[in-house]
Amino acid sequence: MLPATLLLLLNAALSVAQTRQSLSTGYVVSEQAPNPTFFTIPTASQLAISVALCSGTTDTPVPRFFVTNSSSDASPGSSGGDNVFEILLNQGHGNWSGAFPAGGVLGVEDAGQMPFEIGVSDGVPIHEVVLTPPLLGDTTATQALLFSPSFAWQTQQDPSYPNYTLPTANLSVPDAPSNPTNFTLVISPTSNALASMQQTACMLRAQKSSGTIANQSMWLRDASEWRTEYLVTGLAAKTNYTAYVIQSTYKVSGPIYFTTKSSTFSCPLVSRLPYCPSISYAMPLPPPPASQAMYDSTNLPESIVTPLLSSLTNFTTTLTTFACGRDFYSPLVSCADCQRAYRTWLCAISLPRCGDADSAPANAALLPSQAPDARNPAFPAGNTYTQLLPCLETCTATDRACPNFLGFRCPIPQFNAAQSYGVGYIDSGEEGVQGHGSTGAWGDNFGNVWCNSGQ
Ligand SMILES: *[C@@H]1O[C@H](CO)[C@@H](O)[C@H](O)[C@H]1NC(C)=O
Ligand SMILES: *[C@@H]1O[C@H](CO)[C@@H](O)[C@H](O)[C@H]1NC(C)=O
Ligand SMILES: *[C@@H]1O[C@H](CO)[C@@H](O)[C@H](O)[C@H]1NC(C)=O
Ligand SMILES: *[C@@H]1O[C@H](CO)[C@@H](O)[C@H](O)[C@H]1NC(C)=O
Ligand SMILES: *[C@@H]1O[C@H](CO)[C@@H](O)[C@H](O)[C@H]1NC(C)=O
Ligand SMILES: *[C@@H]1O[C@H](CO)[C@@H](O)[C@H](O)[C@H]1NC(C)=O
Ligand SMILES: *[C@@H]1O[C@H](CO)[C@@H](O)[C@H](O)[C@H]1NC(C)=O
Ligand SMILES: *[C@@H]1O[C@H](CO)[C@@H](O)[C@H](O)[C@H]1NC(C)=O
Repeated sequence: MLPATLLLLLNAALSVAQTRQSLSTGYVVSEQAPNPTFFTIPTASQLAISVALCSGTTDTPVPRFFVTNSSSDASPGSSGGDNVFEILLNQGHGNWSGAFPAGGVLGVEDAGQMPFEIGVSDGVPIHEVVLTPPLLGDTTATQALLFSPSFAWQTQQDPSYPNYTLPTANLSVPDAPSNPTNFTLVISPTSNALASMQQTACMLRAQKSSGTIANQSMWLRDASEWRTEYLVTGLAAKTNYTAYVIQSTYKVSGPIYFTTKSSTFSCPLVSRLPYCPSISYAMPLPPPPASQAMYDSTNLPESIVTPLLSSLTNFTTTLTTFACGRDFYSPLVSCADCQRAYRTWLCAISLPRCGDADSAPANAALLPSQAPDARNPAFPAGNTYTQLLPCLETCTATDRACPNFLGFRCPIPQFNAAQSYGVGYIDSGEEGVQGHGSTGAWGDNFGNVWCNSGQ
């Protein structure tokens, strides 16, 4: 047995003797208590070096990272020097981009036992905070419908004169992109405080995710953005959850927050309707057919779908009696905009959204309701539920986008609009009406939804 001091000396001598670890472009290395603490960076005209801490909370003492692009045998550190740059960390992430004409070195100080990753990219940093958060569809007592950020876009080519053919009522969904971005969903009760941990993919991936992903598939939401859609089951009722989506293994989107409904909430989730491509929420329907966790276009009752498609078809027929694309009723909007706005409004109006008086924000546009509803007699009778009223703006947007001759009119806030719509949530409300324009939005990233926007 060697004395401890001698062992330490030996270790020190060994680490000096060791060669530096080389980093390669396009790769990530994972380290804990690195030895040596210098990493050589290849020669390149432009590289993005990124680091991510994989443990602890955002106020844990952290290692410091220094990069130099002066040469590949420098020893950058807190003592500074020419062309030595510190990579400052924010919530566990840091990056530095620049030219490495003679290669470079990354040095780590105070690494302790903190596990971390280093990524080297000739494009955007490998580790990244994605600016677009995931999207919540809706929840039930035990389920949640969530969407990744969009990863591909479908360009909508509006028709033009003389062949001004608008999309059919039952929109066709194009084939999904063949190389979708890889996403991983992470959900955890908000009480676990994920948001105060390092906000990095390596940290979040290591957390236990709540619930079970019952289904995961791509969906062209809004008929324009491809997202990965998740149906999560097995959550606890009336619980606050925090959700993230990890993109391409190293990039983090989120957090968003949501609350599951109370245990008495009985409305099932509905989504993936090609004719209503933005709809993903709970509706006053009986439990879905056996073995199915929710409704989609394959099992939504025909008695609901047929009149909706018929209205949209009839509306489109009337709309195109106008010489769309040859004549213009507005310098700003076209018949295609009118049809899109009408579709959004019709879907929101025809497909009532359930709310939960128990977990909704206090000023949400809730209305005790009973199916069949005056607006859509097709919904099965006998279901008493709380309706989250459509946002008045779904109506006024249609009014604005459509030609006058259609006679499309919305109720007026000062009179009785609030009986049938959520008023004043998005546009500033007039005096004495529901939302008082206080939110400027129909929902937020904390899971609050004030009215049904048809989305
Ligand atoms: C190192 O990067 C800095 C900042 O981007 C740049 O100004 C400098 O010219 C680079 N050094 C070399 C040797 O290219
Ligand atoms: C890189 O770091 C800077 C701060 O130095 C930060 O503003 C930026 O968002 C980071 N870029 C990425 C892609 O994370
Ligand atoms: C008119 O446009 C529709 C939809 O874009 C297309 O399917 C159809 O073939 C076109 N008809 C003619 C005559 O170009
Ligand atoms: C809508 O179109 C799809 C094919 O794109 C078809 O499978 C489905 O049955 C149609 N739905 C209705 C209600 O016509
Ligand atoms: C998952 O969703 C897809 C698309 O709607 C559907 O085809 C599939 O049957 C679903 N799988 C399960 C297990 O529900
Ligand atoms: C969920 O979060 C909201 C707002 O942050 C809070 O008011 C509420 O008490 C929380 N509910 C539970 C069950 O923790
Ligand atoms: C997607 O990401 C997960 C987790 O990061 C990884 O295990 C899986 O191999 C990835 N799949 C593909 C196809 O890249
Ligand atoms: C659409 O028009 C047809 C033919 O005029 C009519 O029979 C049908 O009832 C209309 N649909 C709706 C929902 O009004």
